[in-house]
Amino acid sequence: MDPHSQGLPSNLRIERVATSSLSSHIITAVQALHDECFKGEAPKDKQESAREFLDRVLACHDEGSCVWFLLWLSNTLVGMCTVTPYTRSLYGWNLAVSIAHRKRGYGRLLMHHAQEYAYQRGLGELSASVEVAKTRLVAYYTSLGAKLQTTGQGGSNAPPPPSARITKAFSCEQVKADLEMSSAIVWKRANANPKCKVRTLTIFSSCAVMIYVARILHRKC
Ligand SMILES: CC(C)(COP(=O)(O)OP(=O)(O)OC[C@H]1O[C@@H](n2cnc3c(N)ncnc32)[C@H](O)[C@@H]1OP(=O)(O)O)[C@@H](O)C(=O)NCCC(=O)NCCS
Repeated sequence: MDPHSQGLPSNLRIERVATSSLSSHIITAVQALHDECFKGEAPKDKQESAREFLDRVLACHDEGSCVWFLLWLSNTLVGMCTVTPYTRSLYGWNLAVSIAHRKRGYGRLLMHHAQEYAYQRGLGELSASVEVAKTRLVAYYTSLGAKLQTTGQGGSNAPPPPSARITKAFSCEQVKADLEMSSAIVWKRANANPKCKVRTLTIFSSCAVMIYVARILHRKC
């Protein structure tokens, strides 16, 4: 994929990789990001090999059809998700953004790239599973147009299921609009950060100058 065609800041790129094409170097980065974002899921008693890690995170999915979206900031893996076709939708999981790089629009960007891929494959829907108790996460997905489906899981007296299926249907126009919107948010938030740093630096240097002047005046007195 040509990074320059993605409409993203020059240090940011999304790579789409089949599981069979993941190099050991990339699997190490994916494993580290997964451990960081899904704390407590990795076995505590032993170091997992790359093979064991893939078996765990790909679970029951057919490895040959699993594709990874990897988001690189320069040479650092900062985000990812895995997708596989499932009936008429593209099912996604392992959506993760490193803690230090959250709230920059990367999660949304990954989902919208997966959505474009689904569209290119003739699939009209993205789907995923979500823990119902994670209300913030559910609200995030629904704010992006997903619908929660809790029906069809047990009878009317059954306790609410711990996880639910979420789906998002889309049109060609929606795919384009969503990608433009998420790229614009990434640009906006990327530009906001340096400004913030400059403002902090200005305040610190002003304080330093004031302290310096105050000391000189104090000495003269
Ligand atoms: C969910 C996740 C991928 C979002 O990544 P992101 O790059 O920060 O996402 P965006 O910048 O597009 O949007 C940020 C939004 O994430 C939402 N969010 C969802 N779950 C969140 C959580 N546990 N903590 C903080 N924000 C969360 C917030 O609503 C936030 O919106 P806000 O900026 O208006 O407050 C990231 O929080 C993550 O890796 N979480 C841990 C792994 C996980 O739970 N993955 C989902 C598995 S189903």
